[in-house]
Amino acid sequence: MSYQRKKIALIGGGQIGQNLAMLAAMKELGDIVVLDVADYVNPIKGKALDLMEMAPHGNYDANITGTGDYQDIAGADVAIVTAGKPRVAGMTREDLLATNIAIIKDVAAGIKQYAPNAFCIIVTNPLDAMVYSFYKLTGFPKKQVVGMAGTLDTARWRAFIAMELGVSVADVAGTVLGGHGPDMVPLPRLTTVGGVPLAEIATKEQIDKLVLRTREAGTEIVKLFGKGSAFFSPAWSAIIMAESFLKDKKRILPGAALCEGEYGVNGLFIGVPVMIGVKGVEKIFEIKLTDEEKAMLQKTVGVVTATVAETKL
Ligand code: NAD
Ligand code: LAC
Repeated sequence: MSYQRKKIALIGGGQIGQNLAMLAAMKELGDIVVLDVADYVNPIKGKALDLMEMAPHGNYDANITGTGDYQDIAGADVAIVTAGKPRVAGMTREDLLATNIAIIKDVAAGIKQYAPNAFCIIVTNPLDAMVYSFYKLTGFPKKQVVGMAGTLDTARWRAFIAMELGVSVADVAGTVLGGHGPDMVPLPRLTTVGGVPLAEIATKEQIDKLVLRTREAGTEIVKLFGKGSAFFSPAWSAIIMAESFLKDKKRILPGAALCEGEYGVNGLFIGVPVMIGVKGVEKIFEIKLTDEEKAMLQKTVGVVTATVAETKL
């Protein structure tokens, strides 16, 4: 039986895409094809070649190529979609809708034609509307499509707690539910630091500050950059989802998955705890929420509902 490496298609080779390529290569997740628009294909080919030249030091074996042609993603096992404009300072993620929905339509057509069995991780913003649009446009089974946002928002929640309390990030556990926006729902009640409930190790003032910073974390970086948004942490956040699929790790991660009754949501992709394994989104886990948490979740669902309505899909 001949062994064939997995094939990873990165649709969009910009700030996040190039970091995805590097992380996927360093983790030896498979061969990597980075696809971008025709006008940008030479820089993409250059980035791929540069990563091939890093391999001896990085000690990884992966075939990394760049292309502008969807034929080159044929048979991909995973597709991670970052094609789209990022924010500039002063913009909301929803401000990107008109531009990025046109791009997602193009991307959905290409993946549907050349990689119809790929597990698709959508990153492009506004995330909850883009992953919904991709799902509608491709007609893929819901297990095959997930949005990356909660893994990033949860990483930010954990990082800020570790920074605030002076503890290791390794010992901070918790999750964030809902849409990828300022109404997202970190869950302090279910967050622990080395097994100690957050409320027993941090004051209410600290917790309120941490919730706010997590909700505004993306904007904080966009303001610092002026143009463009975070890329290191989003790249890693998408890679752990791809790795859980490719290695059937059954990780339980916050992912934007299609809810059909879960959390009282029907027909929308929102951030919920999902198990990701070889079959894709294998299970959605429902958390018993307090009335206050339910109300916060409903608020973010309302925002996602309005943005999704604008897609007219
Ligand atoms: P970027 O501008 O650096 O890269 C985007 C790339 O997409 C560019 O190289 C561009 O040429 C390419 N592209 C545009 N149209 C394309 C098409 N039709 N087909 C293929 N490629 C195409 O942006 P970035 O910083 O990498 O961010 C990418 C997207 O991810 C943005 O929409 C951003 O808002 C979003 N984002 C989401 C999260 C999240 O948590 N979900 C986090 C950060 C950024
Ligand atoms: C942003 C990413 C983090 O737009 O979603 O800031």
